[in-house]
Amino acid sequence: MSPATAAGSQNRALRFFEATIVKKAIVAVTGAVMFGFVTGHLLGNLQVFLGPERINAYSAFLKSNAELLWGARITLLIALFAHIAMTIQLWQIKNAARPVGYVKKNNSHSSLAARTMYYSGPVILAFVIFHLLHLTLGTVHPHYSETDVYANLVYGFLQWPVAVSYIVAVGLLCLHLRHGISSMFQTLGFNHPRHTPRIQAAASVISALFFAGYASIPLAVMTGVVRLSSMSL
Ligand code: HEM
Repeated sequence: MSPATAAGSQNRALRFFEATIVKKAIVAVTGAVMFGFVTGHLLGNLQVFLGPERINAYSAFLKSNAELLWGARITLLIALFAHIAMTIQLWQIKNAARPVGYVKKNNSHSSLAARTMYYSGPVILAFVIFHLLHLTLGTVHPHYSETDVYANLVYGFLQWPVAVSYIVAVGLLCLHLRHGISSMFQTLGFNHPRHTPRIQAAASVISALFFAGYASIPLAVMTGVVRLSSMSL
């Protein structure tokens, strides 16, 4: 190979590396923004255990604060769009770099969460669309009220197929989070033989806590722990 050809292929490799790193950084940062939202959203929703007045007042506060609400919605939409667009591009780069699939995939070294990243993403997106129609717009809700979020949760989760689909969806979200958190640290440069296993362990604990927190809400309605005071179950 002539020196000019070698320099050309080195430049191409460098450009490829830089483009991939920028896309991965965008996936990591937008993932962190959405992680911030799911954390706040969980803490807000857990107020259902404190009774209807508390969670309804919290929802009324958010809805009365248009700048906060629309600021958060627009930030989330941009983060979601960039996260998906960059993931699709990285997936295309990965496929173009290896057009012929492995003869036999050896999955023994990757976790379930890592292997399901590309599948869990679209399912979570489908869930979020259903969820907005269900609890924000009320389009697919049996008994929707603009002001009574507590009753929306109770009537919504008394339909057990809906409650079960929420539990499955948040399970997938937590698998996605588990791998996402450790990949984010890796992308942002924290890769250390001693710290990486700790980060992975912390990611597993955090995602298990998220699962317990989110799943506890439909479960509490299904078991009658959370119910309307006028309801005799
Ligand atoms: C069991 C799990 C969940 C419950 C009980 C729940 C509950 C709710 C409720 C009650 C609302 C309407 C709030 C209001 O009207 O004031 C809402 C809105 C929303 N939820 Fe969830 N949620 C859950 C999981 C999730 C997850 C996992 C995500 C994201 C991945 C998510 C994303 C959203 C979004 C984007 C909104 C719309 C916020 C807005 O702009 O008004 N939720 N959720």
